[in-house]
Amino acid sequence: MSRPPVATARALTRHYAVGGGLFGKPQVVRALNRASFSIEPGKTLAVVGESGCGKSTLARLVTMIEEPTEGTLEIDGVKALPETWRQLRSKVQIVFQDPQSSLNPRQRIGAILAEPLVINQPRMSAPEREAKVRETMALVGLRPEHYDRYPHMFSGGQRQRIAVARALMLAPRVLVLDEPVSALDLSIQSQILNLLMELQERLKLAYLFISHDLSVVRHIADDVMVMYLGKTVEAGSRDAIFAAPRHPYTRALLSATPVADPTHQKERIKLVGELPSPLNVPPGCPFAPRCWKASDRCRRTEPQLSGDRHQAACFHPEDAPV
Ligand SMILES: Nc1ncnc2c1ncn2[C@@H]1O[C@H](COP(=O)(O)OP(=O)(O)OP(=O)(O)O)[C@@H](O)[C@H]1O
Ligand SMILES: [Mg+2]
Repeated sequence: MSRPPVATARALTRHYAVGGGLFGKPQVVRALNRASFSIEPGKTLAVVGESGCGKSTLARLVTMIEEPTEGTLEIDGVKALPETWRQLRSKVQIVFQDPQSSLNPRQRIGAILAEPLVINQPRMSAPEREAKVRETMALVGLRPEHYDRYPHMFSGGQRQRIAVARALMLAPRVLVLDEPVSALDLSIQSQILNLLMELQERLKLAYLFISHDLSVVRHIADDVMVMYLGKTVEAGSRDAIFAAPRHPYTRALLSATPVADPTHQKERIKLVGELPSPLNVPPGCPFAPRCWKASDRCRRTEPQLSGDRHQAACFHPEDAPV
């Protein structure tokens, strides 16, 4: 049964003015354009795309670290506005790729995890806080003796458990996971992914899961959004997108992902040409300069997302399964 979404983005857009200096004209980086989606409790939306396509920009908007240039965000039925941010921010927490740089090296784990409570729930007593910290440590697989240790005494995987625990301290509804396992060894990656899936099941968390690794996405996602140069080029259920991608860009990304079954060899599509700069997004379809199917129409007119549950922004969509 589907539940009402806990996070809804409508045409979220973020542009940055850069340069300018004394004489130059400032230019606009179109980091994110009209991203729309919704995520239900207990579900994972994965956002994929090459470096610089706007994934972390989207993460900053959804966590309300930055304001959108245009568009709206709704969390738990409440529209995100400066006057509701305080109330909403505790409901959306983020986990970054590199826990090393997000954990204060001078604080013990107990203090790191207590901090969100000290700030947001000042009336909680110290013993209550400690109990809550210890309970959350157990939830993410940290042992009681870890309470008094410092971050450098942990392995990368354990540090990511600490970062997840910290994100859970205020009982959020949504976790934004920005490449949460990309810095970890393969064997540790699957432990952290399994932990995230268990926590999701138990706490009915909604995940916005950012990754450039499609084998990870295939494992964890319910829905997938594919981005190119700040634009959504394809969106739909994981099963639909992996079985029959419609945008040539998605097909190219998938063709570069190793498959578990070596008898099922795919034709590998090699993308030619450089990713254009987001300062200079080409007119028409942003992917046209690298697309083997591009026509004059693609170079002139920008295709809009079309389709019902499985959407693609393409004038010449693929129709065959992979
Ligand atoms: N504060 C900023 N000022 C100017 N440009 C920015 C700013 N933040 C991001 N950008 C630009 O916006 C684009 C999208 O950046 P973003 O960090 O969202 O990409 P990403 O998809 O997360 O990439 P990666 O996979 O490398 O993490 C990039 O071209 C980036 O240089
Ligand atoms: Mg990023």
